[in-house]
Amino acid sequence: MSLFKYLFTVTVVSCCFLCRAQGQALTKQYYNEPHRLQIHFTPKEHWMNDPNGMVYYNGVYHLFYQHHPGSTVFGPIHWGHATSRDLIHWQHQPIALYPDSAGYIFSGSAVVDHKNTSRFGKNGKVPLVAIFTHHSVKGEQEGRNDFQNESLAYSLDEGRTWTKYKCNPVLKNPGIKDFRDPKVSWNEVAHKWIMTLATLDHITFYSSRNLKDWTKESEFGKGTGAHGGVWECPDLFSLNYQGKKIWVLIVNINPGGPNGGSGTQYFVGDFDGHQFTPFDKETRWLDYGPDEYAGVTFSNTGNRRLFLGWMSNWQYAQVVPTQKWRGAMTVPRELSIKKVNGKYLLASTPVPEVNKLFNRSFKFKNIPATNFELTAKTGKLTGPALIKMTGAQLKDLSITLSNSLHQKLIVGFDESKNEFFIDRTQSGNVGFEKDFGKRHTAPRLLQTPNFNCTLIIDKASVELFEGDGLTVMTAIFFPDEDYSDISIQSKSALNMESLTVSSQN
Ligand code: FRU
Repeated sequence: MSLFKYLFTVTVVSCCFLCRAQGQALTKQYYNEPHRLQIHFTPKEHWMNDPNGMVYYNGVYHLFYQHHPGSTVFGPIHWGHATSRDLIHWQHQPIALYPDSAGYIFSGSAVVDHKNTSRFGKNGKVPLVAIFTHHSVKGEQEGRNDFQNESLAYSLDEGRTWTKYKCNPVLKNPGIKDFRDPKVSWNEVAHKWIMTLATLDHITFYSSRNLKDWTKESEFGKGTGAHGGVWECPDLFSLNYQGKKIWVLIVNINPGGPNGGSGTQYFVGDFDGHQFTPFDKETRWLDYGPDEYAGVTFSNTGNRRLFLGWMSNWQYAQVVPTQKWRGAMTVPRELSIKKVNGKYLLASTPVPEVNKLFNRSFKFKNIPATNFELTAKTGKLTGPALIKMTGAQLKDLSITLSNSLHQKLIVGFDESKNEFFIDRTQSGNVGFEKDFGKRHTAPRLLQTPNFNCTLIIDKASVELFEGDGLTVMTAIFFPDEDYSDISIQSKSALNMESLTVSSQN
């Protein structure tokens, strides 16, 4: 390891907001910069995009991520690394994978090879195996179409250090320019590893017994789902719905998302160990907001299916006005299947661990939301907040966050259109990209009149979950002064049976 790399890795080993909770000393600027999210994972400094290789092992969640440690824009991409014991307090770790002569380290996944199928394990140590895309810039510049190939690295010390496999790549590109983001999982039926790979405008499934030799199984997706852009970062897993196994295929797409730019679509269906067959051909979105992308799930989490996305959009990710760092992750979310009008839909809700971040709650009952100045009851907002609302009948609703500069963000529901919206047209600094300052919408998918809404508000982000997570929206914003006021309005006299506002002391 070069001296530079050594010094860098030593300096980045510091706590994320765990330090804050423990009251340890932090440098003056770190964590106090404008727009620095407080309860979402952000890199200590420099550029971050997709979450990668998320895996749970021996009580520790590992989050790797696309990282350029030399700049706040995309460049030579490494795998950054962070760990957590509870999904919400993260600790920065040394960089896990550096670019090499085969290229940058693009997105991918990690598995626990319990049975040592790869034979990377030594002296009884279970190998963690990362499967990622080697992106050759040289090959790209030469105009070749095989510059993305799939490679392996393994760790025998529970994810602390990684060794690249000497016979990389393990899956060679057959001549498809976009051939990337392998998501690997063990399939009980096929008794093999299945790799779900994004291959331009469709998914290609491969199988392997040892993670090293891969055989093509099938393709899915040409002409099905959204095709406004290239398919990236897929994921395949099953969820149990009342004893029935439902397979979910996540496909991120950029551009062509539901509100422009990047987005996460999904299909529900069946996977027989060889082929994915969707139940229908409708396009569905896991998150309708503009700022959840490249989201995939953790491996090795038993019955829980945990999802995390990058909280940005390629439309403007590289020009958002943060200074020392760029990029954040969504809160971890738990996925489940719900049945609506005879269709199986994917729902996501914040993991319950998120509740632990808040130690102060205000509870209200039967609030007529005609014009409810929440701040007058709870005091000014001084940090992250969690708002939960329920009621018997959803009607028009606007929740406005504002500051003394009259900048505001409005999250709400438009009854006449049966849609949710996040309006950031007047949210503050919106001028860095022409499409940023917009009003974004999402259909309400819950079919019953009763509502349950959760909002997670951090310094520069909002996440909305409604109908047990059937409609989800994520958006980022950049006010010139932190929002301090919340008011709730409804022109059709909405009654909130319960309203809980939680914050941090
Ligand atoms: C998605 C993506 C992936 C790729 C990575 C590069 O945001 O484009 O397809 O592997 O980012 O950083």
